[in-house]
Amino acid sequence: MAKAHSKTMLAFGDVHIPHHNPRAVEVFCRAAERLRPDLIVCLGDLLDCGQFSTHPPTHGVPETDYVDDLREANALLDRLQTVCDRLAIVEGNHEYRLDRWAAVAAEGRGAYSMLAPRIRLTKGRSKCTYVPYGSADGRYPHYAVNSRIIAVHGWSYARHATKNHLQISQGKSVIHGHTHRADACIIQNIWSPGKVVQARSAGCLCKPIPLYGTGRPVEWVNAFILGYLGRRSDTLYTIPIMDNRCILPDGVEVAA
Ligand SMILES: [Fe+2]
Repeated sequence: MAKAHSKTMLAFGDVHIPHHNPRAVEVFCRAAERLRPDLIVCLGDLLDCGQFSTHPPTHGVPETDYVDDLREANALLDRLQTVCDRLAIVEGNHEYRLDRWAAVAAEGRGAYSMLAPRIRLTKGRSKCTYVPYGSADGRYPHYAVNSRIIAVHGWSYARHATKNHLQISQGKSVIHGHTHRADACIIQNIWSPGKVVQARSAGCLCKPIPLYGTGRPVEWVNAFILGYLGRRSDTLYTIPIMDNRCILPDGVEVAA
């Protein structure tokens, strides 16, 4: 139960529909239905958009119709919007594949408005903010969760990506996706004694094994972020999803 005047936030990322983990997605939705947050942030790569990749299809992975993937993504957003006040979507590099495809393919320019996630995922939605990927105007795309926290898809995939995010976020806390890992880096805010700034990656809701899996272990984890946003400070948690369940900070189990 959130303190009076504080707001509750959930953040998730890297669903990579159609390569999502249905059980992890279900656990996340049930957690959202239980917590009824003020804000849900999608940290990007909701869609894999493999159909628009310059890479050849991965051998053995069944190909899906992009329109079906869009429908699945919209169904997920619809479900989440019934339990939150506001939805924010930060576009990922996978959704951005559409823009790159449209820029080089003649048929792409004609079909762009029919297919682009930034158009098709927001159509008819109220209380929804969509932040496009990429920066043509020199402004770094991000969603400002409040005056202290920003949400981005991810500036780095490096081993210490989360720590790197904190180093470049210039005193703001930052939540991000992209790495599929669930790391946290919390340091004291030297300008404001007694307070902290932190970077946190949300894990992923896709199958936690890469499509290009070669048998080499990876650190991907199904997880999401829960935040209590106060007037003067924020507390963030990373909630791992263990197969078909998770445990919220108050000890309540949410099962798919
Ligand atoms: Fe990504």
